[in-house]
Amino acid sequence: MIRNYIDENRERFLEELFGLLRIPSISAMSEHKDDMFKAAGFISQKLKDAGADLVEVLETEGHPVVVGNKTINPSLPTVMVYGHYDVQPVDPIDLWHSHPFAPEVRDGKIYARGADDNKGQLYMHIKAFELMTQTNSLPCNIKFLIEGEEEIGSVHLKKFCIDNKEKLQCDVILVSDTTMIAKDIPSITVGLRGLAYLEVEVTGANRDLHSGLFGGAVANPINVLADMISKLKNDRQQINIPGFNDDVLVLNPEERSEMAKAPFNLDNYKKALDIKDIMGEEGYSTMERTGIRPTLDVCGIWGGYTGEGAKTVLPSKAFAKISMRIVPNQSPDKIAQLFEDHFKTLAPLGVSVKVTNLHGGRPYVSPTDTHAYKSAEKALQTTFGSKPVPYRSGGSIPVIADFEEVLGVKSILMGFGLESDAIHSPNENFSLELFYKGIETIPHFFANYSKK
Ligand code: BES
Ligand code: MN
Repeated sequence: MIRNYIDENRERFLEELFGLLRIPSISAMSEHKDDMFKAAGFISQKLKDAGADLVEVLETEGHPVVVGNKTINPSLPTVMVYGHYDVQPVDPIDLWHSHPFAPEVRDGKIYARGADDNKGQLYMHIKAFELMTQTNSLPCNIKFLIEGEEEIGSVHLKKFCIDNKEKLQCDVILVSDTTMIAKDIPSITVGLRGLAYLEVEVTGANRDLHSGLFGGAVANPINVLADMISKLKNDRQQINIPGFNDDVLVLNPEERSEMAKAPFNLDNYKKALDIKDIMGEEGYSTMERTGIRPTLDVCGIWGGYTGEGAKTVLPSKAFAKISMRIVPNQSPDKIAQLFEDHFKTLAPLGVSVKVTNLHGGRPYVSPTDTHAYKSAEKALQTTFGSKPVPYRSGGSIPVIADFEEVLGVKSILMGFGLESDAIHSPNENFSLELFYKGIETIPHFFANYSKK
């Protein structure tokens, strides 16, 4: 029945998703403010069409939130689906083979910004919901919470959850915004890293200077910034910030050997990325480096002359954006403070340093011994034919830890993306097969979960 419904509606499902993908809802850029409302409106209409009783677009201090629900019987459990309609910026746009907001299918994949993260995966849920209402098989109550600020740290969503606690009451939260280990290895994400994201500004002289007249005598903020950054890690790739590692939860050997059971092929990994070797903290496997260890990475760095040709100048300022992925039991605020305090001590007297905390989020760990986990496990087993592998992902979804704190509800991270989907990169894509497979799997989760 599920498959029939999907087969009969394949083309329409895809056409509708394309409609959503055409809206350039880039949350980071203020020029796209109207597009955020457009995307929210689009989703709200599709939720209504799919059979939701009540759908609202609620404004926040940032981008709007879409909530919707269908209650079939208050005594039955309620599943809340979370997703985000905002996307990352598209640059470098020249590297896209087709326009990021003109979706198209090539080689069985949908190409567009947001094709996977998260419009494609989110839309699977809206269509699975339609399928369940249209075939009279929705077995419990359902709510939707679709936000527009995930890619900029979900800064207003925690307050939204506090203010709308009643409206968001539910028994479990179901999220498809993560990856599977491989196309034929169904997986359930059981860990997300948190993060602290900061911008630093290093200022030298009060103006740009002639690099001959002043070079060698006055601090060059770019040189200084590069120096300071290089001191943040030692040559074993361990983070050097005093206190940074104090709260890191260390896994015991059994837990580590459990983690090592998840399949990982180093050769394929290197091949997919076109790299001769991997690089990371000494003493840890790749899965551990992304799953259970914190990181410090520069996400952007700029200053001085970057135009055509040469200009001999000592810039007055240099900037960098720095992200630190954090793990249990690190706190984003504490890590941001430790970074700032330490970073300032690294500056020579010839420069001043400003640090701005842009956003943060806490890590999340999901238990595997719950009814909800087993419901997802069984659903994936049914549609993929093998038992899904639990694994910890390196990515972050900041609100998941907030849901636990504010609503007291755990989330199931049942994602259908692949590492090769190029999320946040040029040519983001999403496998058509997994798009439909997701729509097929979700109703099984609902059915399993409702059979308590
Ligand atoms: N969908 C991703 C997170 C993700 C991807 C988790 C793959 C696990 C596997 C999400 O949209 C994302 O990119 N989150 C940001 C959060 C940040 C901006 C606060 C991230 O991880 O960089
Ligand atoms: Mn993302």
